[in-house]
Amino acid sequence: MANQANGWRKWLSPYVHLSGNWISLVGVVLVTTGAVLWITLLPIILRGFTDNPYAGILTFMGLPTIIFGGLILIPVGISLRSRRERNKGIYPSTFPPLDFKNAELRRLLFFVGVTTVVNLIIGAQLLYSGVNYMDSVTFCGQTCHTVMQPEYVAYEHSPHARVACVECHIGPGASWFVRSKLSGSYQVFATIFNVYPRPIPVPVTNLRPARQTCEQCHWPARFEGNRLVIIPHYADDETNSLTKTVLLMHIGGGNGQGGIHGAHVGPGITIRYGSDPTRQKMNWVEYSNAETGKKALFVNDKTDPKTVNPASGRVMDCIDCHNQPTHIFHLPGDAMDEAMANGSIPASLPYVKKEGLVLLQEKYSSREEAAKKISAGLIAFYTQKYPQVIAQQRADVSRAVKGLVAVYQQNVFPKMNVNWGTYPNNLGHMNFPGCFRCHGALHAANDPNKMVPQDCNVCHNLLSMGEANPKILTDLGLAGPSTPSQ
Ligand code: HEC
Ligand code: HEC
Ligand code: HEC
Ligand code: HEC
Ligand code: HEC
Repeated sequence: MANQANGWRKWLSPYVHLSGNWISLVGVVLVTTGAVLWITLLPIILRGFTDNPYAGILTFMGLPTIIFGGLILIPVGISLRSRRERNKGIYPSTFPPLDFKNAELRRLLFFVGVTTVVNLIIGAQLLYSGVNYMDSVTFCGQTCHTVMQPEYVAYEHSPHARVACVECHIGPGASWFVRSKLSGSYQVFATIFNVYPRPIPVPVTNLRPARQTCEQCHWPARFEGNRLVIIPHYADDETNSLTKTVLLMHIGGGNGQGGIHGAHVGPGITIRYGSDPTRQKMNWVEYSNAETGKKALFVNDKTDPKTVNPASGRVMDCIDCHNQPTHIFHLPGDAMDEAMANGSIPASLPYVKKEGLVLLQEKYSSREEAAKKISAGLIAFYTQKYPQVIAQQRADVSRAVKGLVAVYQQNVFPKMNVNWGTYPNNLGHMNFPGCFRCHGALHAANDPNKMVPQDCNVCHNLLSMGEANPKILTDLGLAGPSTPSQ
């Protein structure tokens, strides 16, 4: 036993001597740091990250880099020093035994001990607060403040404001977790080195197929029937005249009963398409229904049906229509209509729609500048043109200023180059091509006269188009100055 230990010590002692160089010592620091990180992260690793997926960036990328980097530096330093000493002829022929009388060993052990303790103290502190902080939504939405600000602000005001980012961007299951970790880590580096694109491009090409994420909460077989959609519009006249468009949307179900969802995500139905990278211009669409055996190919005027390879296409899913389920960016007119309908901009102020639109569409260099100039602009307008409004409706004017600034700040982010209309919304056909990318735009491959249908009643019944007092709303008992939009 003793002999064996001596053999070990003999073998090791040259390395103790040689490792006293700064390259190896940096390696030692890295390895101890990695080890401490690993121990601190162990509980999270064992728990499978379910609550805190982004801690994975540290574990999957940070830890291996640190530990393996350190492990490589130690022998590199040793061999460099050995070569240097041999070249200079100062390489010792014998080495002192490895015990506590050996000054080099004491120094090395002291160094490892001190770095470990320092690492433990700093590491534990940092990680404790760090891991707590990486609580999903805060981390995803706010850490890289400028980068994610447009998405985060839009999200906060959306129907999904209580749904964590990772529910849609990662979803359940290990394989997507790892995939998203890898691209997530790249994003962290892109942010640190300030090379991220502005605006962040859409579509998100590596997004998990939406049916696996959305259907955790929305069960298309349960959608059914029709939905009454009431859209208020305010004119740009002095009284901001209110009209309403009323649609009966044929929501339909994914259970074969037709309608919008039945037609695209119903049982057995697969729709594939080929498009430009923005997915705004469709070249061809293939419809196939495994239950009825129906198959049909539609193309635009420029596409030769013979060149179409359906296997290369994207399978249509929820986000080909709902591309803004939560990052909802409006155009100025719609955003003002919504704010006026819910009262955050009082419709009783003369010309507030018209003036508001002018102020919203000016160019500002930052959100702060916009806030200042928009409020100054609106107050100046009423002071000059309507002094009696300033005198009698001061509170309304202040509310309008607040509402207008909010409309701007929820939709425009100059630092990220996100302006009005930067992100198209595909759910509709008035502001962006949306449904009409296919409907009315593509014709059957074998019959130029047969289009993907565009009749106005296929998707909705138009019950009222911009009427002041739609009879249908009176009949339903929904008439009133402002009606909820559902
Ligand atoms: C309800 C599901 C859902 C939630 C919750 C969600 N996202 Fe998204 N997000 C999407 C979809 C779908 C897209 C893809 C849009 C496209 O490809 O056209 C997207 C796109 C993005 C983009 C690309 C730019 C853009 O505006 O389209 C970013 C960045 C983003 N999300 C960040 C976040 C952050 C940060 C959070 C949490 C604060 C979050 N998302 C929460 C569904 C969601
Ligand atoms: C973790 C659960 C969850 C996930 C995942 C989720 N949603 Fe939702 N969704 C909700 C909740 C909750 C609401 C709000 C219902 C309400 O306000 O009545 C909602 C509302 C909606 C609405 C109705 C909005 C409106 O204006 O009425 C649509 C459309 C929608 N989600 C689409 C999607 C799409 C598309 C995805 C996938 C990208 C998705 N959701 C993922 C929970 C979820
Ligand atoms: C072909 C386009 C399209 C596809 C694909 C699509 N939807 Fe929809 N969806 C719509 C339209 C249009 C509406 C109605 C919007 C409105 O009322 O203003 C709607 C409404 C909804 C609503 C609100 C339902 C209600 O009763 O108010 C939810 C939730 C929803 N969709 C989820 C999904 C999910 C999940 C998927 C994927 C499985 C999906 N949609 C696929 C177009 C689509
Ligand atoms: C990628 C192409 C594409 C887009 C985008 C698209 N659709 Fe479709 N849609 C189709 C195809 C293909 C059919 C099947 C046509 C057929 O059977 O002849 C269809 C069928 C339908 C039908 C059934 C028509 C019928 O005759 O019964 C409805 C309703 C519908 N779509 C609504 C919508 C709505 C609403 C949107 C936008 C939110 C939309 N679609 C966007 C490709 C598309
Ligand atoms: C392929 C499906 C589809 C077809 C075909 C279609 N629409 Fe629409 N339409 C929609 C959707 C989806 C919306 C958005 C509803 C929403 O905003 O909630 C919409 C919205 C509208 C609106 C309200 C817009 C607003 O902001 O006030 C009007 C008006 C309208 N459609 C008229 C028509 C007319 C006219 C036709 C016939 C040329 C037609 N639509 C054909 C799907 C369709």
